[in-house]
Amino acid sequence: MNKLLAVLLIALLPAFSFAGEHGADLESVDIDVSDKAAMQDGAGTFVNYCMGCHSARFQRYERVADDLGIPHELMLEKLVFTGAKIGDHMTIGMQPADAKNWFGAVPPDLTLVARVRGTDWLYGYLRSFYEDPTRPWGVNNRVFPNVAMPNVLEGLQGRQRIGCKEVQRVEDGKKQYDPLTSTPQTHETCDQLIIVPDTGALTEEQFNQKVKNLVTFLAYSANPDKLQHQRIGTYVLLYLAVLFILAWLLKREFWKDIH
Ligand code: HEC
Repeated sequence: MNKLLAVLLIALLPAFSFAGEHGADLESVDIDVSDKAAMQDGAGTFVNYCMGCHSARFQRYERVADDLGIPHELMLEKLVFTGAKIGDHMTIGMQPADAKNWFGAVPPDLTLVARVRGTDWLYGYLRSFYEDPTRPWGVNNRVFPNVAMPNVLEGLQGRQRIGCKEVQRVEDGKKQYDPLTSTPQTHETCDQLIIVPDTGALTEEQFNQKVKNLVTFLAYSANPDKLQHQRIGTYVLLYLAVLFILAWLLKREFWKDIH
C-alpha cells in the first residue's frame, strides 16, 4: 500500500516539477540507455557519491548487475558498501527524520527521478552548482534555486562561480555571426557559470562525460525494461527478416512453373 502511494505521488510530481526552472536554459543531452560502459561508470558514481543520502529502493543490486553486465562478485566487491546482499533493494541507512534535521529537506529516492525531471534537467542540475556564501552549504544551484543539497561533485568538477564571460550573441534563439567575416558575434555577460581553473580532479569535458554517464544510469534505473524492449525489438526484426526471406523463396517456388 505504501509503495502504491509512493508511486502515485511520484506520478503526480511532474505537474509541480517545473516550478524552479526559470532562468536556466537547459542544454539537451543525448542519452543512450544501451551504452553499458556508460551505465557501469554511472552506477559507480551513484553508489559512491549519491547513496550516502539518496536511495534507489525500487531497484535491486542483482538486477542492476545483470542488466549492466557486471558479475555478482564484482558488484558486491566494488559497488555495495552497505553490507547488503546481492538480492537486496538499494536502500540506505539514513533516517528521513535525521536527514530533515541535517539538510532541511529529505533527499528523495532517485529510482524514478529521470522520469519525473527528465534527463536534460538532471544533466543541467548536476552541473549547475555555484558558490553562494549566503546558503547553508555555501552553494546554490542555477536549475534548482536554493536547493538543500550540497555540491557533492565539487571535488570532480572544481569550484564553480557566477562571473563574466564572452559568449556568442543570440537573438530570437539564433546564434549571431558577423555577416562579413562569419565569425561569431560575442558580448560579455556577467551571469555565466565559470569553473575556477585547477580546482577539480577532472577537466570540464571529462566532468560532463561523468555526469552524462550518471544520468544515463538514472535513465536506465527509471525505466529498466527499456533495455529488454530493445532486446525484444531486435528479435522481432530478425524474425521478420527471416520470414521475409522464406516468403520470398516460397513465392519464387510458386511462380516458377507459370512464367
Ligand atoms: C549529503 C547528502 C546528499 C548527497 C550525497 C546527494 N544529495 Fe541529492 N539531494 C540532497 C537533498 C537534501 C536534496 C533535497 C533538496 C531540496 O529539496 O531542496 C537533494 C535533491 C536531489 C535532487 C532533486 C530531486 C527532486 O526531484 O527534487 C536530485 C536529482 C539529486 N539530489 C541528485 C543527486 C545525485 C545524482 C547525487 C550524487 C551525485 C546526490 N544527489 C547526492 C542531498 C544529497
